[in-house]
Amino acid sequence: MDTLVCYYSRSGHSKAYAKRLAKELHADLREIVEVQRRFTGPIGFLKAGYDSKNEKKRSIHLSGLTLLDSFKTVIVVSPVWAGNVPPAVREFAFTYRIRSSDLFVLINHKGSDPEGFLPKFQKLFPKAERMTVITRLKDSEEVAEQKFLSVLEQVRNK
Ligand SMILES: Cc1cc2nc3c(=O)[nH]c(=O)nc-3n(C[C@H](O)[C@H](O)[C@H](O)COP(=O)(O)O)c2cc1C
Repeated sequence: MDTLVCYYSRSGHSKAYAKRLAKELHADLREIVEVQRRFTGPIGFLKAGYDSKNEKKRSIHLSGLTLLDSFKTVIVVSPVWAGNVPPAVREFAFTYRIRSSDLFVLINHKGSDPEGFLPKFQKLFPKAERMTVITRLKDSEEVAEQKFLSVLEQVRNK
């Protein structure tokens, strides 16, 4: 297993994409977990947005994985929070500075302008070969599927 898929997900979309990628690629699948669990519901939502906008630090772990050195390819699947990279994914980028692997990022979000958040992802993951953005409220099912399949193809063609 030389491919790792890691994801952070609050409502399940990123998780579903990550699970599918891992299955198709026979990859190791790991969740980026915040050590201090977040509240669900409206208060949790507001706090999540506040933390993301203000780039608050959060401790994370990768569900038992400590070293990424053995992976040739790493795929990160993330939502967008408050026009920014969620704190857990930001921390993942700092903790596991990915140098040697081929890195791909799949972002899914509701509908805000990617110009607002893409530079922030690019700054945190400067080595990413490609960033794919699925805009759930604007992309048709076919377009979203095509984007998803394009990630699979990019990884397979490496
Ligand atoms: C706290 C919070 C803030 C969000 N901010 C944005 C945003 O700025 N722009 C956007 O397009 N979507 C935003 N979303 C929507 C998520 O990015 C989107 O629903 C994503 O698909 C969720 O992925 P998940 O199900 O893996 O958590 C936000 C969601 C949450 C929970």
